Amino acid sequence: MNHDWDKIYRDMSSYYEARAQEYDEFYIGKSPAIPRPESYTRDVEKIGEMVKSFGRGHVIDIACGTGFWLRYYARNCSRITLFDYSEKMLAVCKKRVDDLCLEDKCSFVRGDFFEYTFGERSFDSTLVGFFICHLSPQQEERFFLKVNKFLRPHGQFMIIDSCWSHERAHYRNKEGIQERTLNDGRTFTIYKRYFDESDIKEIFNKYALKLEALYMGNVFFGAVGLKS
Ligand SMILES: C[S@@+](CC[C@H](N)C(=O)[O-])C[C@H]1O[C@@H](n2cnc3c(N)ncnc32)[C@H](O)[C@@H]1O
Repeated sequence: MNHDWDKIYRDMSSYYEARAQEYDEFYIGKSPAIPRPESYTRDVEKIGEMVKSFGRGHVIDIACGTGFWLRYYARNCSRITLFDYSEKMLAVCKKRVDDLCLEDKCSFVRGDFFEYTFGERSFDSTLVGFFICHLSPQQEERFFLKVNKFLRPHGQFMIIDSCWSHERAHYRNKEGIQERTLNDGRTFTIYKRYFDESDIKEIFNKYALKLEALYMGNVFFGAVGLKS
């Protein structure tokens, strides 16, 4: 599909910066995508259980946003790098870190994932939530090349993202441009793609990650793998 990826990329950054204060409403089902909040809360509970067993050593949470998943994985690891390019998202995330008394193990890095230079083999575990769904096929390849460089051998990798389901198909296309409206009425356009089970297996296979556990919900999925 022909998209102006440079424009999409710029629009996405303004959208998340503007959405930071209300972002977590998504997790209680305040979303136009599927009007049944219980679909969201049930998947958050199931994936939260998975995240409780994820993470060891030094974890990087890529495009961490508000750090929603921290409460589930923080106790498993010795250090956490919270990486995002939105100043406002990182500010909400810092507040969460304070509330959870995690200041001693967390550091914050503000940057563009595709521009930033990470040290080789510097992380034991990588979490990425709701970021890959916004990437072009080329960006997806660049994303996994980078992850494969900074993740240590046998390192853990977890994706949490939006899945394609019968319920979703009532309201959305499987991929494409969407209009999003914030609580104050401002509108933005973003690119978003939804993943079915075969998409997820293909991704793990393509980027040499061994899939160890997969949960497919109505709205979200969680997938954990190991770098070979
Ligand atoms: C949908 S939110 C996901 C937040 C969090 N990972 C979660 O699971 O709730 C997407 C995040 O990606 C960040 N982001 C988008 N493009 C980025 C980039 N190139 N580098 C770093 N962060 C980026 C946005 O600022 C936003 O916080």
